Amino acid sequence: MNKESVMALLAEISDENSGRDLVSAGTVREIGIHEDRVSVDIRLGYPLADQGEELATVIKTRLENDPGIDKVSVNISCKVMAHKVQEDLKPLESITNIIAVGSGKGGVGKSTTAVNLALALQNEGARVGLLDADIYGPSIPSMLGVKGQPATDGKHIIPKEAYGLKVMSIGFLVEEDTAMIWRGPMVTSALQQLLGDTLWGPLDYLIIDLPPGTGDIQLTLAQRIPVAGAVIVTTPQDIALLDARRAVHMFRKVDVPVLGVVENMSTHICTACGHEEAIFGHGGGEQMAKDFDIPLLGSLPLAVEIRSSLDEGKPTMMQNSDSELTRCYRNLALRTAGALSLMPRSMVLQMPEIVIQN
Ligand SMILES: Nc1ncnc2c1ncn2[C@@H]1O[C@H](COP(=O)(O)OP(=O)(O)OP(=O)(O)O)[C@@H](O)[C@H]1O
Ligand SMILES: [Mg+2]
Repeated sequence: MNKESVMALLAEISDENSGRDLVSAGTVREIGIHEDRVSVDIRLGYPLADQGEELATVIKTRLENDPGIDKVSVNISCKVMAHKVQEDLKPLESITNIIAVGSGKGGVGKSTTAVNLALALQNEGARVGLLDADIYGPSIPSMLGVKGQPATDGKHIIPKEAYGLKVMSIGFLVEEDTAMIWRGPMVTSALQQLLGDTLWGPLDYLIIDLPPGTGDIQLTLAQRIPVAGAVIVTTPQDIALLDARRAVHMFRKVDVPVLGVVENMSTHICTACGHEEAIFGHGGGEQMAKDFDIPLLGSLPLAVEIRSSLDEGKPTMMQNSDSELTRCYRNLALRTAGALSLMPRSMVLQMPEIVIQN
């Protein structure tokens, strides 16, 4: 047994979250060999709580099945690295990665996805913030059940906290009617300030809920905010997909990698009989992912619980922790963070990172 043959075995194990095998995803840190005993040190570039043990078992079983190996010990740790942002922008000092959640069309469930994505990443052990940049319809405060003016230390705004997330929304600061009449440049400068003047503290991920659409405001934001990757939310309807395609083009135009697409309201689950029906059409998100060569990060059904839990200010991720829906959101979060972990690293941002040890 030598390192090359252990590497060859590890290359046969796929990591569903990054969509690659363990070797090509760059997760193998060290291999130790003492006669027929092998130790493997794996470091993932995204946070992984419960599933870490499962992955360790898969690796152990696969290696111990090899006739040349007797005992295997596996160590799995996670470290969220800073990934490259647009060429001409500087990353924010205390935020390792900004992930923008966008959509070509309004009302497709962008804020719903952003909120649950943020909570699901936190659930995996990451430090997460959420910025509601949807100036024309800030809905994050009510979805998380937080309101009121945020405090300040004289220089900075102190973000609100909800379920452990650092939260900031334009909705905390201005009346909706006031924001509605702002012109594009006012919107973008207000949002840049909001991002820069908030005391986020160290974060692995800041999720930004962008305003829907692909107009000037969205384009300017995508150009000015140092984003490591974007997630596009769409419904399976053709028309929403057309808009979603526009959103992919917009991010690509400004050099923001699109991490993948989320198909929301992909099927309807009847509360009376549990019957599942694709009322908005079928397979659209998957087709779009194929066409653009990006992952389909997840599909969420149209489910009453998703809406009702947001209405009570306690999102799905904070409800029953082991439901089918929370599992959907957890997988979505892992795939998103997994896709980001494959992106080029930032050379600029070198902040101390916390290693999450499983
Ligand atoms: N999968 C789902 N199942 C059931 N209801 C959903 C689902 N996703 C979103 N909703 C509901 O649909 C409505 C619109 O969702 P949301 O506010 O997240 O959309 P949005 O794209 O952010 O909209 P806007 O463009 O106005 O910002 C909300 O009432 C939300 O609770
Ligand atoms: Mg919204």
